[in-house]
Amino acid sequence: MYKSLLVAGACLVSPLLIAADAENGAELYHEVEVDATIQGEFRAGLNCESCHDPAIYSREDRRVTSWVKLESMVERCNTNLDVGWFPEDVTDVAAYLNETYYKLDR
Ligand code: HEC
Repeated sequence: MYKSLLVAGACLVSPLLIAADAENGAELYHEVEVDATIQGEFRAGLNCESCHDPAIYSREDRRVTSWVKLESMVERCNTNLDVGWFPEDVTDVAAYLNETYYKLDR
C-alpha cells in the first residue's frame, strides 16, 4: 500500500517538474530584450525572433539535431547577444524550444 502510493507520487511529480522548466523558459524567451549592432546598424529592444522567426527551429536543414546542440545554440545566442541568462535559464529556454519545436530526446 505504502509502496504503491510512493510510485503514484513519483509519477505525478516528474511531469510537473519538466513542465515547470519549459514554462520558465517560455517566459524568458518571450520577455527578453537586448540591444545589438547588426550589419553596422544599432538596434534596440531585440528579442529571440528579431533575427530568425520561429520557422528556423523547424526548417529542414536546421543546425540543431540533438539536445546537446540545442542547448549550445541557445547558449551561443545568449553569449553573442550578452543576454545574461544563467546556465539553468539556458536549459529552461532549450526545454521550451524542444517542447514546442524540436521534440528531441533528452
Ligand atoms: C542578432 C541576431 C540574433 C538574435 C537576436 C538571436 N539569434 Fe539565434 N541565431 C542567430 C543566427 C545568426 C543563428 C545561426 C543560423 C545559422 O547558422 O544558420 C541563430 C540560430 C539559433 C538557433 C539554432 C536554430 C537551428 O538551426 O536549429 C537557436 C536555437 C537560437 N538561435 C536561439 C536563439 C534565442 C533563444 C535567442 C534569444 C535570446 C536568439 N536566438 C536571438 C542570430 C540571432
